[in-house]
Amino acid sequence: MPTRLRRSVLACPGSNPRMMEKAAASAADEVFLDLEDACAPLEKPAARGKVVEALRTHDWQGKVRVVRINQVSSQFALDDIREIVTGAGDVLDCIMVPKVQNAGDIAFVDRALGSLEQTLGYELGSIGIEAQVEDALGLMSAEEIAFASKRIETITYGPADFSANMQLPSLTVANSYNYPGDIFHYVLFKLAVAARAAGIQVIDGPYLLIRDIEGFREAAGRAAALGYDGKWVLHPGQIEPANEVFTPSQEDFDKAVQILEAYRHATEVERRGAVMLGDEMIDEASRKMAMQFELRGRAAGLTPSPREEAAEAVAG
Ligand code: GLV
Ligand code: MG
Repeated sequence: MPTRLRRSVLACPGSNPRMMEKAAASAADEVFLDLEDACAPLEKPAARGKVVEALRTHDWQGKVRVVRINQVSSQFALDDIREIVTGAGDVLDCIMVPKVQNAGDIAFVDRALGSLEQTLGYELGSIGIEAQVEDALGLMSAEEIAFASKRIETITYGPADFSANMQLPSLTVANSYNYPGDIFHYVLFKLAVAARAAGIQVIDGPYLLIRDIEGFREAAGRAAALGYDGKWVLHPGQIEPANEVFTPSQEDFDKAVQILEAYRHATEVERRGAVMLGDEMIDEASRKMAMQFELRGRAAGLTPSPREEAAEAVAG
């Protein structure tokens, strides 16, 4: 399964052609064209054609291209899948499924995609799934959802629907909950554990106060601290902060490169499994931690600073 860069996941109403055109030209890593909650019910049927047209005509510049369908139990879901995949299945990376409550919801989409892929002559399994967990039932089933299909590339959190479902006394998703600490910590960590157990990515949902960039940064930082791969963005102003927060700093990246090199030297040349690097003991687990930084950094386009490059060259 490809591991795609998803630091910033831009939400875009599928009923609005102009916004979809702008989204294609943005600096977001992923764009999802929304047939669900950002699309008025009366606009939903017509939005499918607009989404197909946008996927086919714009230059998406290497972005991950996703369409969020309606909840599988709704009157819209089946036609959403059929029209989007028939019209644009060859220029689409994933279908995002909202309000996933159990593995059966994912199985339904998985089979429908498989059937259409065969009809249309696409490689079986070529279209991935992003599973959005956003209510109590979904959270209770997070583990089975994460493992429900080989197509699943992400577990994605939906804090607005989750707040509504849990009857939290809040009217927005921002840093304004009357609660000591992060009110979503348990949810975010539980979803991250489920996703990592299944070997897939985990993405935080939206921050609704789009002008509060500092607040966005803090919320994104908390998700990043739990290992999240990225976060939704609702406005161009949130894209750069998201890309920055979910990219390792140059300093950490360089340190990771240094750890990997020191560990390689220790194990392969000195035949020792645990050695000192400066004031720190490093061993195989340190190598694994460093690998995460190195993989993420390189995926985001980082390269070692000149000093580390020289060390790498010497090491061969
Ligand atoms: C997103 O779909 C949310 O409900 O937060
Ligand atoms: Mg939602």
